[in-house]
Amino acid sequence: MKRVSLTQYLVEQQREHGRIPGQLRLLIEVVARACKHIAIAVNKGALGDVLGSAGSQNVQGEIQKKLDVISNEVLIEANEWGGHLAAMASEEMDSIHLVPNRYPQGEYLLLFDPLDGSSNIDVNVSIGTIFSVLRKIGHTRGVSEADFLQPGRQQAAAGYCVYGPQSMLVLTLGDGVAAFTLDRETGSWVLTQAGLQLPDETAEFSINMSNLRHWAPPVRRYIDECLEGRAGPRGKDFNMRWVGSMVADVHRILSRGGVFLYPWDARQPDQPGKLRLMYEANPMAFIVEQAGGLATNGRERILDIVPARLHERVSVVLGSRHEVLRVNALHAEGG
Ligand code: AHG
Ligand code: MN
Ligand code: MN
Repeated sequence: MKRVSLTQYLVEQQREHGRIPGQLRLLIEVVARACKHIAIAVNKGALGDVLGSAGSQNVQGEIQKKLDVISNEVLIEANEWGGHLAAMASEEMDSIHLVPNRYPQGEYLLLFDPLDGSSNIDVNVSIGTIFSVLRKIGHTRGVSEADFLQPGRQQAAAGYCVYGPQSMLVLTLGDGVAAFTLDRETGSWVLTQAGLQLPDETAEFSINMSNLRHWAPPVRRYIDECLEGRAGPRGKDFNMRWVGSMVADVHRILSRGGVFLYPWDARQPDQPGKLRLMYEANPMAFIVEQAGGLATNGRERILDIVPARLHERVSVVLGSRHEVLRVNALHAEGG
């Protein structure tokens, strides 16, 4: 079988659809290369002294793991000199990171969750990197946080890399979803699936059940209906999976269908949810929609939310169309 590399895929997309400007192509290649470096560090584990805590906290008040910090540095160093970016933002940085003056400034903004699933790092369970690409609107030289505060539907590209039994890169440029597997011998990302589509129907849900007592009535009712199985209103038995790394849970859903929920809960009543809108929910919502699924906060499409802050949180319901519509309907009924 003829192998198509990420580079060839991007060149052909550009040729066929003329939809990938040179800077965007470079950006994707640089992010993919950075993810390869992160994959190598992840695979070394204790041998590379990358496990455990870094002894610091991020802006969200979470303890940073060594790999959170390493991955953030790898992504910044890889991306700041190429001339394709105006600025970057990350889960692990309080404010935006400008491209240093000694480098040319490009037209894109890159946001990332450098290492998703931190609680799984030290137990050898799949983790990942999530990224979102926006265009800088306007032609002023300066960049501020306000330039980032665009709704997710304006993303030029989004993707994630999952570091699991295989390292895989899943990417959308707004024209479907493609998946690449890392060939460790040659060091290249090889196209292994194009036109990913997730089924409309599913019988598998993904939620942290230990928070059940804290959920709002519509979410509780949705899960209750699933748990009632064949005898209940849904008329079928459901299975449950929760890895605890959004990347891994979403990757499973893209592979075989399912619905993922991280809803608002009463532990932090003032926060809309746990997950971050701009570098977790938006890129995943873009990918899931491009694969034929839906992504909402229970009431509105995630990609239509206009962010007020870089580290804004959001309630997330995404995956197979019929399940997301059922969750939305229960919210509309008020539970
Ligand atoms: P991060 O490691 O980037 O902070 O994200 C962790 C997120 C997400 O990956 C996952 O879905 C969720 O936290 C798991 O949360 P619980 O531990 O509450 O299940
Ligand atoms: Mn995360
Ligand atoms: Mn993270």
